[in-house]
Amino acid sequence: MSNHSPADASQGVQRKILTAYDMPETSEDISRRSFMAGATLTIGGIVGVILAIPIVGSLIPSGAGAKGTWSPLTTAEWNDLQKATDKPVKLEFSMKTKDAYLPEQTFGDYVWGVKVDPAKFKAARPDLPAKLPFSDGSYDVVNMSFVILSPICPHLGCRPIWSADANRFQCPCHGSQFDLDGAHLAGPAPRGMDPLPLREQSGVADVMWIRYRSSVPDRVILSYQS
Ligand code: FES
Repeated sequence: MSNHSPADASQGVQRKILTAYDMPETSEDISRRSFMAGATLTIGGIVGVILAIPIVGSLIPSGAGAKGTWSPLTTAEWNDLQKATDKPVKLEFSMKTKDAYLPEQTFGDYVWGVKVDPAKFKAARPDLPAKLPFSDGSYDVVNMSFVILSPICPHLGCRPIWSADANRFQCPCHGSQFDLDGAHLAGPAPRGMDPLPLREQSGVADVMWIRYRSSVPDRVILSYQS
């Protein structure tokens, strides 16, 4: 049965239906709401930090603090390198890597070796200083008149192939091209090919693998593993 009297209706009286929003707040309501807001912010902050840790971690070069490992070239590879005067020589070798949490592992990969005239190389690669930093300090980009070039394209990580016909490295993925010294000639690569450390110790030539960050103009060490 309606509570509205016929008189109310006839006079057009507007009756307001009260909702929770219209009720005056008690101090208990206010303190509960403050608590809920604070709790929401705190939980949101914790979740944000948990999500941010792996993201931030992925942006920190993993090479920071890691140690590189020298890998020896065989006598045959060293002899091949001597012949790398007008074309690069592919040097396949075994690398040993030691992760802090894993036993030592051995696996194979290759680098490009080029015999250079140091003065001409310096002119051809103005993007390179004489020395580059690595885990043991710094290394000479040209050592014993040789340069070791990483086989990893600095664009997105494919492997450029040496074309004797074109007399240059050509990357099969997006067409970057590099000359014998590894200087960038064409294509989207943001820098020339990356040199790697070479040393001679007790009559044995050693090379070290370094993986640099791709797609950036600067050389940022990512890891000492391929
Ligand atoms: S990965 Fe070499 S050009 Fe893109």
